[in-house]
Amino acid sequence: MTINIRPIDREHKKQIVAITSALENNLFNPNPPSSNESADVVEEWILNSKRKPMYRAALMDNLVVGIGGAVEKNLDGYGPFANIYFRVCHNHTGQGIGKALAIRGIEEAMALRLTCLAITRANNIPAIKLLESLQFRPIKCRSPDLEKSQIVFELNPVP
Ligand SMILES: CC(C)(COP(=O)(O)OP(=O)(O)OC[C@H]1O[C@@H](n2cnc3c(N)ncnc32)[C@H](O)[C@@H]1OP(=O)(O)O)[C@@H](O)C(=O)NCCC(=O)NCCS
Repeated sequence: MTINIRPIDREHKKQIVAITSALENNLFNPNPPSSNESADVVEEWILNSKRKPMYRAALMDNLVVGIGGAVEKNLDGYGPFANIYFRVCHNHTGQGIGKALAIRGIEEAMALRLTCLAITRANNIPAIKLLESLQFRPIKCRSPDLEKSQIVFELNPVP
């Protein structure tokens, strides 16, 4: 089935909040957000949805099945970068959706010559495998903004 990746739309807010806050989609997150916390974050994404790069929604048959892409961020001890993020509804994993979202984010970040980083947990094997399949490599990053269990992956920086 075709994966359609498009800017986040207010009409999909409820579905996106459900994906970002569901415990099944946060198995490696020691502090999963509540629905209300997710709603605040998603609202900010919607307000910034015209920004480039920005997180996008992945749709299949008009159903939101994942969220992700890139957002420009700053990490103390590293500097500005594009944060590559992906979260796929647990019912739809294993179909290439996470990778498609990451690739879209990488393309948008590279067009702006931003280095791509992804921050995940050391035990999040699905996320690590996805990143490795796109040639991300772990780097040492001692930022005070990071929790102990978080690790940073980098795609070859833009020369
Ligand atoms: C991580 C996540 C996004 C993967 O999404 P997905 O749509 O299932 O992944 P894809 O189908 O696109 O697979 C991408 C690659 O990762 C590999 N992969 C994905 N899940 C895997 C798993 N559980 N075990 C081993 N490899 C896995 C796939 O084999 C594939 O590799 P390939 O392209 O070389 O064949 C999904 O599991 C998820 O949303 N997890 C919860 C949210 C999360 O932890 N996000 C990361 C926050 S930093």
